[in-house]
Amino acid sequence: MTLIILALGLLLAVVTRQWLVLRARERQRGILRRWPIPRAPVEQLDPVFRPDELGATLAVEVEFVGRGTIAVPGGTTDTEAWILAVLAKRARRMFEFGTCTGKTSYMWARNLPEGGTVTTLTLAPGQADASRHTGEDDPEAVRYAKAESRFTRFLYSGTGVEDRITQLYGDSKAFDDAPHAGAHDVIFVDGSHAYSYVVSDTAKALRMICPGGLVLWHDYSPECPGVFRALNELATRLPLILLQGTTLVAYRRPASDLESVPRNRQPPEGKQ
Ligand SMILES: C[S@@+](CC[C@H](N)C(=O)[O-])C[C@H]1O[C@@H](n2cnc3c(N)ncnc32)[C@H](O)[C@@H]1O
Repeated sequence: MTLIILALGLLLAVVTRQWLVLRARERQRGILRRWPIPRAPVEQLDPVFRPDELGATLAVEVEFVGRGTIAVPGGTTDTEAWILAVLAKRARRMFEFGTCTGKTSYMWARNLPEGGTVTTLTLAPGQADASRHTGEDDPEAVRYAKAESRFTRFLYSGTGVEDRITQLYGDSKAFDDAPHAGAHDVIFVDGSHAYSYVVSDTAKALRMICPGGLVLWHDYSPECPGVFRALNELATRLPLILLQGTTLVAYRRPASDLESVPRNRQPPEGKQ
């Protein structure tokens, strides 16, 4: 009898803990304390998202490929894709770490104003084994990074906006960001989710973003420990926000930032 009571008590404790973990994840916080990066509504990122009495305004109308219940490798949710697409409407130069299926690049290119450009960097299938993951990188993230490096055709391939997109191939740790210094209005960090890569891609993105520009990261959640740790560390230095209802974290470089970064408004074209 005592054994049965003990077993039931243990089962109840395990189920309760699991329930608390799931509930906390849903609320984007830990069981006992908040995640280090504060949540904020998307209109805090850009007033263009501010609703009126009818809800979302036509200022956030975009060309959009929804995914609904369809699984998209490495993909953003519909809300995340919509936010990224809206940001393209007033951008000039956009840069993405991690192309995957090319969905974000395509939606950016479709929504950019005339003359806007997208540059996107990814590992080509033959390069996946050459990546420079380190011993402290989460093996699951390394496995995903390689598995997602399999595309040679992208969603934008053969479309009318392909000429707005510069596709770069190569390992992001080997990518020379110097010619891109201060050149981009929006940068999306969504390459390898392994800690050492998120740290390296982030350092580059922060040098490549123009004053007033936005850097966004995907997959901020304890389920992606490399992203979670790297961004929590960054949040001790920079004012990051987690966009409510998404796994997107954002940082806006102050427009008044007079840091002496050489600014190149014409990033290099062509393959890496
Ligand atoms: C999560 S997917 C990107 C999804 C894409 N940003 C989107 O919104 O559709 C990750 C991408 O990062 C690329 N990647 C992984 N490791 C990389 C590395 N070391 N250097 C460059 N790209 C890498 C993968 O090839 C894959 O295309």
